[in-house]
Amino acid sequence: MTPAFKKTLCLATVAAFSLICSVLAFFLYFEPPSAVYPFTATLAQKENNESVTSNEKPIVLLWFWPLGLKFDFTACSTHFNIDSCVLTDDRSLYNKAQGVIFFHRDIDWYLRNMPQAPRPAFQKWIWFHVESPTNTATIPGLDNLFNLTLSYRRDADITVRNELTIRNSATKDDFVLPKKDKVVCWIVSNVNPATGTAVREKYYHELSKYIKIDVFGAAFGHRLRYEDYYSTIASCKFYLSFENSIHRDYITEKVNGPLVAGTVPVVLGPPRENYHQFLPSDAFIHINDFPDAKSLAEFLLLLDRTDEAYMRYFEWRKFYTATPHLLSMNNEFIQPICLACDHMSRDEDFHVIHDLYKWYSS
Ligand SMILES: *[C@@H]1O[C@H](CO)[C@@H](O)[C@H](O)[C@H]1NC(C)=O
Repeated sequence: MTPAFKKTLCLATVAAFSLICSVLAFFLYFEPPSAVYPFTATLAQKENNESVTSNEKPIVLLWFWPLGLKFDFTACSTHFNIDSCVLTDDRSLYNKAQGVIFFHRDIDWYLRNMPQAPRPAFQKWIWFHVESPTNTATIPGLDNLFNLTLSYRRDADITVRNELTIRNSATKDDFVLPKKDKVVCWIVSNVNPATGTAVREKYYHELSKYIKIDVFGAAFGHRLRYEDYYSTIASCKFYLSFENSIHRDYITEKVNGPLVAGTVPVVLGPPRENYHQFLPSDAFIHINDFPDAKSLAEFLLLLDRTDEAYMRYFEWRKFYTATPHLLSMNNEFIQPICLACDHMSRDEDFHVIHDLYKWYSS
């Protein structure tokens, strides 16, 4: 075996293993979703002046149910007011489908479970992926295969994010700080260093030397039901919004959760400037604002004693609203699929993704 092949094989094993683990984890434990989804359907629409010529709604075929999780396609119209395509999982409609969605983690290493029939000239293949580049298996053969990308990235063709919405000036800011009986909390289920979590583990251990941290989640033997997600976060003054790996735009539900709950997120992730593209600068504390974990702990303890300074972290609520993830639907893939449907009803441009991984890791 060549070293490159070994590496590939090893990556495949890791990918398969992590897939199994996440399916298991999905049923056993609740974990905050890995990526951020705007339930306000903030559509990142690319300029597109062309309109669909026929009156028929385009057919969009979901080739795999992401991680095998099915849902009712009518959720797109009932939850997101999107009804501009015909979503289907019926592969016999392949030849008629304008769009076909492929969930990256379900693609077979040798592409054996991809369509074998030729692709109709009008058909667009949509690459659907929401994990960070660190947690992305580099399946060979995906360059020059897709026409559209569907991801959390701002520069994806179809961007799915959980953004704050500007508050309607007519609605009053009736925010009441939830009752707090803990200072710092963290919900974490995955502590596998192979998935790039080592950085946040290390920082957590260092921080915990100087300030008490209440930890919830499977990794610490204290699992949390998803019904208890927001109320648990709300009971803490600060929440560790530590991303599992650090990448541009990879700012997830881990940040949105505390914003919804009325808690101050302490973020570990891309640089502060990247957060500013999504959040007001005074809505969160960035670990890079401090030279080390000790000074961060001292600052958090200071805010814990000084109500006035602490309350400044909620000023943004006068101007914006954070929207909860639709946890009750228990499926983080519904909204991206609905957005792809919406996009397909407008997009008629010719497009090819030449260098998928190069783009994704850039
Ligand atoms: C989609 O991508 C394929 C593969 O590169 C390409 O052959 C095809 O022309 C593209 N189709 C459209 C409609 O962009």
